[in-house]
Order: sequence, then structure tokens, then C-alpha cells
Amino acid sequence: MSEKEAGFSSHVVVFLFLILLAGRGIAGLGDKEVVVKLKRFLQSNNKIYSGGYARWNEADPTPCRWPGVTCNDDERVTGIDLSDSSISGPMFVGFSNLTELEHLDLSDNTIDGRLPPDLNQCGGLRYLNLSQNLLDEELNLTGLVNLRIVDLTSNRFEGEIRGKFQAMCANLVLLNISANNFTGEITGSFDECPNLQYLDLSTNKFTGEIWKGFAKLREFSMADNNLTGEILSETFPSNCSLEFLDLSSNKLAGELPDSVANCSKLEHLNLWNNSFSGAIPSGIGELAKLQRLFLGSNRFHRKIPEELLNCKELVYLDLSENNFGHEMQGIFGRLVTLQSLTLQENYYSGGIESSGILKLPDLFTLDLSFNNFSGELPVEIAAMPKIMYLMLAYNNFSGSIPPEFGSIAGLQVLDLSYNRLTGRIPPELGKLRSLLWLMLANNRLSGEIPPEMGNCSSLLWVNLAGNKISGRIPSEISRMGRDPDPTFQANRRGISVGSLSGQCPSMTRWIPVNYPPFNFIYTLLNPKRCQTTWDLILKGHNYFPTCASSNSQVITVPFSGYLQLTGNVLSGEVPQEIGKMRFLRLLYLDGNQLSGNLPAEISSLPLVVLNVSCNLFSGQIPSEIGSLRCLNSLDLSRNNFSGELPMSLNQLSELNQFNVSFNPLLSGVVPATGQIATFGNDSFIGDPLISYSSPSSYPSPPPTFGNSSTVYLGTSRSKVGFWIPFVVSFLVFGVASFVICLRIRTLVSIVSRILTIENFVTRSSDHRS
Ligand SMILES: *[C@@H]1O[C@H](CO)[C@@H](O)[C@H](O)[C@H]1NC(C)=O
Ligand SMILES: *[C@@H]1O[C@H](CO)[C@@H](O)[C@H](O)[C@H]1NC(C)=O
Ligand SMILES: *[C@@H]1O[C@H](CO)[C@@H](O)[C@H](O)[C@H]1NC(C)=O
Ligand SMILES: *[C@@H]1O[C@H](CO)[C@@H](O)[C@H](O)[C@H]1NC(C)=O
Ligand SMILES: *[C@@H]1O[C@H](CO)[C@@H](O)[C@H](O)[C@H]1NC(C)=O
Ligand SMILES: *[C@@H]1O[C@H](CO)[C@@H](O)[C@H](O)[C@H]1NC(C)=O
Ligand SMILES: *[C@@H]1O[C@H](CO)[C@@H](O)[C@H](O)[C@H]1NC(C)=O
Ligand SMILES: *[C@@H]1O[C@H](CO)[C@@H](O)[C@H](O)[C@H]1NC(C)=O
Ligand SMILES: *[C@@H]1O[C@H](CO)[C@@H](O)[C@H](O)[C@H]1NC(C)=O
Ligand SMILES: *[C@@H]1O[C@H](CO)[C@@H](O)[C@H](O)[C@H]1NC(C)=O
Ligand SMILES: *[C@@H]1O[C@H](CO)[C@@H](O)[C@H](O)[C@H]1NC(C)=O
Ligand SMILES: *[C@@H]1O[C@H](CO)[C@@H](O)[C@H](O)[C@H]1NC(C)=O
Repeated sequence: MSEKEAGFSSHVVVFLFLILLAGRGIAGLGDKEVVVKLKRFLQSNNKIYSGGYARWNEADPTPCRWPGVTCNDDERVTGIDLSDSSISGPMFVGFSNLTELEHLDLSDNTIDGRLPPDLNQCGGLRYLNLSQNLLDEELNLTGLVNLRIVDLTSNRFEGEIRGKFQAMCANLVLLNISANNFTGEITGSFDECPNLQYLDLSTNKFTGEIWKGFAKLREFSMADNNLTGEILSETFPSNCSLEFLDLSSNKLAGELPDSVANCSKLEHLNLWNNSFSGAIPSGIGELAKLQRLFLGSNRFHRKIPEELLNCKELVYLDLSENNFGHEMQGIFGRLVTLQSLTLQENYYSGGIESSGILKLPDLFTLDLSFNNFSGELPVEIAAMPKIMYLMLAYNNFSGSIPPEFGSIAGLQVLDLSYNRLTGRIPPELGKLRSLLWLMLANNRLSGEIPPEMGNCSSLLWVNLAGNKISGRIPSEISRMGRDPDPTFQANRRGISVGSLSGQCPSMTRWIPVNYPPFNFIYTLLNPKRCQTTWDLILKGHNYFPTCASSNSQVITVPFSGYLQLTGNVLSGEVPQEIGKMRFLRLLYLDGNQLSGNLPAEISSLPLVVLNVSCNLFSGQIPSEIGSLRCLNSLDLSRNNFSGELPMSLNQLSELNQFNVSFNPLLSGVVPATGQIATFGNDSFIGDPLISYSSPSSYPSPPPTFGNSSTVYLGTSRSKVGFWIPFVVSFLVFGVASFVICLRIRTLVSIVSRILTIENFVTRSSDHRS
């Protein structure tokens, strides 16, 4: 080929190329081809589920009206939105061929693997959302210099952050890389991003000192990393523009500098779970717009600055888990805008009335649990106009529950567990139509369960374990929790309902820990998700598992309630009306003196757990129990059941805990196959009339609830105080059932007393160390 020819042919190539480009420019044909390739790629990787792309009709002249595709006036594709489209498999290669692409949203799928280098050539991208996927390895977006908004939340990206954003951040306004595995120090990485306003680096593995330049942002979250060192005074310069600052769950120490006063636009300040010490700086009083202040789980000391009164918009105040003690400071009663006050896990011993907190006009959450309060419960609580969530657990309150508590019209949570309350449950509590939780466990309450409790139509979650409650279970109780919907509806209409501090200590106390079907909820109760989980539960979104039994009959109930009456002295028969409690998923009646037949009506409940061990039940085990398709745990041990072990139990395909031990009159043959055959001898100890169909075929028993609690307890928890509820429930519900029944109650109260006292001891040593 001569030079001339070569020149000519290269001209032809360029010419053809230009025609091609022009053609694409006019008709968008090239873009259509790419989008069709995208569709086919997605279809080949997702054979079962498909998203909106399945409706992309290839016969259409342009892709511009396909769902999720946007174009400009020239019919060039400028946006692809495939969020929440059930896409799995690797990322499509070829987005860079859409040369006008500005907006790419692939969030909320299960795309995995690493980002193809092709993406780094989409130089026109302004918006990139890859959040909620399984993308991993190192990130390289250096070519995307026009990006304004980048959301990579919840993936598996890793590696040092240094060098990843410096070169491309000229236009960056929002960067969210929360919940990944990024490492290293951030210092310097964002100094040269002139437009950056929202930066979320939370839940990664960043180390070293905090980046000193963050005060130029509007929003900065560094929560849940491994930062150390102090915050220097110059970090908050006079032109600080922060509105939202979250440094929770790091290892920052030293004093919070008074210069925080410069950040006069701050609305949200979260320093929860660090090692800050010294006084709360009076400069906080300059933050006139501050609404939410979380200082819990630090080592701030007793003086709360008067200047805090200048924060005229403060609604949430969390000072839990600090070294505050003695009388509650009077300043709390003057923070009249407060809606939520959480002071749990301190050492306060008085001042509930004198501080004036009970007169705060807008307070709807008050958590004073894990303190050192004693004496009678203040009756003034009944006059709090807006109180909805009242937590006074783990103190030393004594005397009886004031009947006036029954007139707190809006009350949804009443948690008085682990105190020394005596007397009977006041029948007036039956007036609490909005009550969802009633936690009175581990007190010294006596008398009968008032039938009026049946009027608590929202009450789904009841724990009265470890008291001295006697008499029969009233049949009226079956009306309890029959219709919680009005309360949930009201909560859905309201704005954000509750506020708990990071650890969700009360929630972990309220949700049964020790049964496997509920274990999953603890992964949801991390500090990050606690607030939303709590919010959803209060709005009646069913967070508890539904049961898909192996014969594919899915059993759903809109709400999952429980009734926990373990370790009392209840007697008489269980009323057959109990079968009407249509939302009851867990029923614990163990460790009482209940007698007579177990009513067959129990089988109309959507039960997951049924524990009636350590009672005086007699007669046949109702064969109807075999229709409780979702039953995971059935404990009938230590009673006087007689007759044949019903073969219907063998249909309980979900059952993984089963115990009929110590029913000496129970007879029958343990089948060789089926669900019951999966349990070992320990399920039948002390049943001399039970025989085995084939003695060689007993497998070892599946993990019992004791084991699963141990597994949970085995996870690392730094604070002993946090363990206590788990330990106690484990002991109360796990170990206690092996101890001679009639002693349960004393054991429960001894154990709880030891642990409550020990809790104070360990906590004080914890704080000292
Ligand atoms: C993108 O363009 C290149 C050539 O420029 C081509 O090889 C590739 O197949 C195209 N990819 C798609 C998905 O269209
Ligand atoms: C990214 O997508 C998620 C899920 O679709 C969405 O919730 C989030 O707001 C988006 N992020 C941004 C910055 O738009
Ligand atoms: C990132 O990609 C660009 C080209 O797209 C390349 O030049 C650069 O070396 C890559 N950086 C890393 C760290 O791989
Ligand atoms: C982070 O990396 C660790 C191992 O280094 C891994 O166990 C963990 O699952 C990763 N987390 C995420 C969110 O990818
Ligand atoms: C980052 O994403 C998380 C999870 O979606 C969200 O909660 C957070 O508000 C986002 N941060 C910013 C600054 O948008
Ligand atoms: C946190 O950082 C320290 C050093 O500063 C290191 O020893 C420790 O392993 C880190 N912890 C985690 C969970 O990354
Ligand atoms: C804030 O003040 C510092 C000097 O104190 C200056 O360097 C910086 O540019 C200022 N930032 C803004 C956003 O004005
Ligand atoms: C408190 O912060 C530390 C350090 O970042 C973290 O390891 C721990 O899990 C946090 N505690 C809770 C209860 O989140
Ligand atoms: C505000 O920042 C300036 C420096 O920009 C500093 O000198 C001053 O002390 C700060 N204000 C307060 C109340 O600390
Ligand atoms: C708790 O209060 C009692 C008095 O009621 C007091 O003797 C005890 O020292 C207090 N404990 C702590 C840890 O403050
Ligand atoms: C609780 O109060 C009783 C007196 O009512 C007292 O004997 C006991 O020491 C207190 N317990 C704690 C832990 O303060
Ligand atoms: C409350 O319960 C009691 C006893 O069950 C009943 O007699 C009474 O009528 C109920 N009150 C209302 C207002 O429903």
C-alpha cells in the first residue's frame, strides 16, 4: 500500500466514523443497540426474576420511552435507572458506549464482582448510584470528573481510600460510601473537593485521626469506624457550615472543644459511643438550631452547662451510659422543648420529681432504666401529658404500681421490669387502650391478673415472668391485643415515633432472645438500624418471621404477640378462650401450678413457641397440637400428662426443640421416622412408659435453646451491663427449666437480685477502668 492509498483509506475510515456518529446523533440507533445488549445481558444472567427491563420492546424505534431509560431532545440516552430490578450477576460492560450518559442508577440489586474499567470511561456521568449491591475489590472512578452525586453505600468495596477521590472530586457534591470495607486514613482525601457538601464514610474501617477539614461540609458522618485521637479546637473554625455531624462509635477521646459553638447551623450532633471526657462544653448553648444531641456512652462528667437552655429547638437528648450520678440535675426540667430524654445507665439515685422532668410538656420518651432510683414510683408520671414510652426498668423502685398509671391515655410502652415492686397489678391498667408493651417481669408482684387487662386491645407483648402472681388465668385475658391496629395506624400518621439511644437496650429486652426464630432480629438491632427497626415495629410492620412450613403452606399473621407468664404461682385450668388470641406467637406458662387438661383450643393460635413445662397439667396431650404448623419449640416436660403421645406431633416439620420429659404416665412409641424421630433420648427422660421403635437410630439432639443463647452470648460485647438482660433471660428461661419446678420463682428472684447488684458493681468498675 502506498502512502497515498494509506492516507486515503484512513480518511475513508474517519469519514465513515463521522457518518456513524452523526447517524447515532440523529436517530439514537447506536444507543438503542447498547440498551438492547444491556437487556439481553440482564436476561441471560437473571433467568428467574426480572425487572422493568423485561418490558423493553425491541420493536420500538428508540429506547427513549422504555421504563428506566431517559433521553435528551436528540433522543440520546442520558439516564438508565434499574434500581430494585432483581439484577444479579456481574456488572454490564458497555455503559461507556452510551456517550451522553449522565445518570446511572443500579442500586438495590445483587450485582457482584468488580467494576469493569469501561465504567471509568463514562466521563459524562453526573449521578452514579450503585448502593445496595455486592460489588467488591478496589474502586477506580478517576475518569469520572463530572460526577456530582455518588452513592456506593452497602457494597464490599475495599482498600485504602487515599487517591480514590482526589482526582475526580472537582464537581462532587455528595459522596456516600457508608457500609463498605474501606481502610486507611482519610486525611487529605477530600481537601480539594471544593463543592463537597455531603460526605458519609460511616461503617468502614478507617483509622487514624479525624480529618480536620470536615467543618466546611453540611453533612459529615464518620460513625462506626476506628478513629482515634482528639478533636482539636481549630477543627471548628468560625465559618463552620455543618448541619449534621455524626462521629458515633469511634475511639475519639479528650474534651469536646468549646469551639463547636462556631457551628451555629448544627441540627444534629452525635458523639455516642466514644471516649470523650470532661465537661460538656458550654459552647453547645450557641447552637440555636440544635435538635438532636447524642452524648451517650462517653465519660462526660456531671456538670451539664446552663447554656444548654439556649438550645430552643432541642427535642432529643441522650446522655445514657455516662458517669452522671446522684440527684438528677434541675436543668432537665427546664429544657421545655424536649420530646425524648434518655438517661439510662447512669448512677442517678433521685431527683425524678425535683428536677421537674415529669412536667416537661412535650416529653414522649423517658428512659431512666439502669440507674439507682429507689422508693415508690412517682405518681406524677400519670399527669405527663404526652408520655408514650416510659422505661424505668432495672432500678430499685418499691411499693405498688400506682393505679393512676391507668389514666396515661397515650401510653404505648410501660417497662417497669427488674425492680422491687409489690402488690397487685392495678385493674386500672385495663384502661390503657394504646398499650403495646407491658413489661413487669422480675418484681415481687402478687395477687391475680386483673380481668380488666382484657380491655387492653392493643397489648401484644406482655411479660409478667418472675413475680408471685397467683390465681387463675382469667378468660378475659384472651381479649388482650385483639386489635392493635388503631394504635399502629395512629403511629403511622404521626411523624417519627420513638427515639432510643444507639444500643437499643430496651428493645433487646422486649424481644424474646432465646428462641432461634427470633435470633435474626438481633442483627437488626445494631446502632445503625435500631431507630428504623423500632420505628417500623411501632408502626405495626411485622418484623417477626412468618412460617413457611415444608408443605409450602405459608402462615402469616399481621402481628406477632407473646405472653410470658413464666415463674409465677398461677393455678387452675388454662381457659379455653386463650384460643382466641389470634396474634399470639409465643406462649410461656412454664413454672406455675397450672392444672387440668391443656385446652385443645391452643391449637388455633399461630404459635411458634409453646412452653408449659413445670406445671401440674394432666390428661391427654391434645392431638390438635399437631396442627401448629409453625411450632419451633414445644416443651411439655415436668407435668402429669398421661395417655399416648399423639402421633400428630410427628407432622410438626418446623420443630427443633421438643421435650416431654418427666411425665411418668405418658405412654406410646417414639416413631422411627418423622419429626419426632429427630430428637434424642433427652426429650423423653423420666417417661418410663415411652418406648422406642428402633433403639439404634437416635441421632444426637439438635441444638437446644440453651446452646443458641450461648452462641449469641459468645459474640463480643464489651460492656457487661449490656449482657445482663441476655444473661438473665438465658438463666431464667434456659437453666431454670432444668431446676425443680417449685423453686423456679425463688431462683428467678435470687438470680435477678444477684445480677442486678452485680450489674452496679461491674458497671462502676467498668467506668473506673
Ligand atoms: C461498545 O463499543 C465497542 C467499540 O467501540 C464495541 O466493541 C463493544 O461491543 C460495544 N459494546 C456494546 C455493549 O455495545
Ligand atoms: C441511591 O439509591 C437508593 C436505593 O434506591 C436510594 O435510597 C438512595 O436515596 C439513592 N441515593 C442517592 C444519593 O440518590
Ligand atoms: C484507573 O483507571 C485509569 C484509566 O481508566 C488508569 O489510568 C489508572 O491507572 C487506574 N488506577 C488504578 C489505581 O488502577
Ligand atoms: C470486610 O472484610 C472482612 C474481611 O476482611 C469480611 O469478613 C467482611 O465481610 C467484609 N465486609 C463487607 C461489608 O464486605
Ligand atoms: C448514605 O446512605 C445511608 C444508607 O442509605 C443513609 O442512611 C445516609 O443518610 C446517606 N448519607 C448521606 C449523606 O446521604
Ligand atoms: C483499630 O485500630 C487499632 C490501632 O489504632 C488496631 O489495633 C485495631 O485492630 C483496629 N480495630 C479494628 C476493628 O479495625
Ligand atoms: C473558612 O475559613 C478558612 C480560614 O479560616 C478558609 O481557609 C476557608 O476557605 C473558609 N471556608 C469557607 C467555605 O469560606
Ligand atoms: C462502640 O464503638 C466501638 C469502637 O468503634 C465499636 O467496636 C463497638 O461495637 C461500638 N459499640 C456498639 C454497641 O455499637
Ligand atoms: C470560632 O473559630 C475561631 C477561629 O476561626 C476561633 O478563634 C474561635 O475561638 C471560635 N469560637 C469559639 C466560640 O470557640
Ligand atoms: C445506689 O443507691 C444506694 C442508696 O439507695 C447507695 O447506697 C449506693 O451507693 C448507690 N450506688 C451507686 C453505684 O451509686
Ligand atoms: C434497694 O433498696 C433496698 C431498700 O429498699 C436496699 O436495701 C438495697 O440495698 C437497694 N439496692 C440497691 C442495689 O441499691
Ligand atoms: C373492662 O373489663 C371489665 C372486666 O373484664 C368489664 O367488666 C368492663 O366492662 C370493661 N370496661 C370497658 C370500658 O370495656
